[in-house]
Amino acid sequence: MTKPQIRPATGAQYSRIHGVGGYRPVRVIPNSEVLEWIDSSDEWIRTRSGIAERRWAGPEESVAEMSVQAAGKAIAQAGITPEQIGGVIVSTVSHLKQTPAIATEIAQRLGCGTAPAFDISAACAGFGYGLGLADGMVRGGNAEYVLVIGVERLSDLTDKSDRSTAFIFGDGAGAAIVGPSNTPGIGKLIWGSDGSQADVISQTQAWDTAFAKPDAINGQGKEQKWPALRMDGQPVFRWAVWEMAKVAQQALDAAGITADQLGAFIPHQANMRITDAMIKALKLPASVPVARDIAETGNTSAASIPLAMERMLESGEAHSGDLALIIGFGAGLVYAAAVVTLP
Ligand SMILES: CC(C)(COP(=O)(O)OP(=O)(O)OC[C@H]1O[C@@H](n2cnc3c(N)ncnc32)[C@H](O)[C@@H]1OP(=O)(O)O)[C@@H](O)C(=O)NCCC(=O)NCCS
Repeated sequence: MTKPQIRPATGAQYSRIHGVGGYRPVRVIPNSEVLEWIDSSDEWIRTRSGIAERRWAGPEESVAEMSVQAAGKAIAQAGITPEQIGGVIVSTVSHLKQTPAIATEIAQRLGCGTAPAFDISAACAGFGYGLGLADGMVRGGNAEYVLVIGVERLSDLTDKSDRSTAFIFGDGAGAAIVGPSNTPGIGKLIWGSDGSQADVISQTQAWDTAFAKPDAINGQGKEQKWPALRMDGQPVFRWAVWEMAKVAQQALDAAGITADQLGAFIPHQANMRITDAMIKALKLPASVPVARDIAETGNTSAASIPLAMERMLESGEAHSGDLALIIGFGAGLVYAAAVVTLP
């Protein structure tokens, strides 16, 4: 008797991004408001980070609500229906409810039927991680279209008295639809992690340290302090500039693309000085438009690349069909870079 053989899933030969959409909270926080919390100056914040203002979400602008708004735009641009979506991946580090994944609520609200839906935690590399998973799902035959969302309410985890982070973070959501393509639209993902530097950006305390566990509440006298994000700025800065420029170059090489062939460079909007240093290290020609969304959006972690991509397309700085180099990097430490065709 011949051994039975499993019929494998077969997918599209190539994948690409079919649509992108963003949601920016209504409330603008200019540097002048940050100066009410920390001893700093508008000039210091602008020159050290490039940030002039950021958006912070209000009570109605939940992780799910911002995601649904951003995803709706991406779905419309892709010209598909929500029922065609065969996977929903939500990258976030600031959804404050451990379980269930927020992705299932988002999938249900969008009308994605019974699509598999799950959250991932890859901080500022989260959009790239999600894109890599979606690319594999589409080409592997486990989904036709996948919705990738990067969403953060970092204001919930920001210590307004911390001079090294209070001015940096913002809230928002960015979404992309990944689906089949006749031509290659997503290059090899260069991604990785370095757990030896886990401490340089992290939550101050785990929830069970911040809040006494039920069985320890009585008589423990634990101080209950809401956790926040802490960052050791200088090591992060050095790592981002030196190591990430190499990763970006690897993504270009793997895709067989040279910097002068790019129609856009869309790095994670961490800090304008990091972006400028990467441009130099990559010897990016001045003709390549560079995302500088951080000036008005701050650092929105997983949401920053799709938000910046949407802005460049809407403003006409970059165009559909152009090649873009994207690179995300942050807490973990984690990183992910790839060359993609813009939707
Ligand atoms: C956070 C960051 C802007 C701080 O800049 P820096 O030059 O490293 O600042 P330092 O902590 O070395 O402090 C330099 C000086 O600025 C002062 N300073 C620090 N924070 C300040 C603030 N918010 N406002 C004004 N002055 C400040 C310090 O007191 C210090 O003053 P001194 O020279 O008189 O001692 C910078 O480290 C950075 O951009 N890091 C990367 C962060 C990042 O992108 N993270 C996201 C990754 S996902």
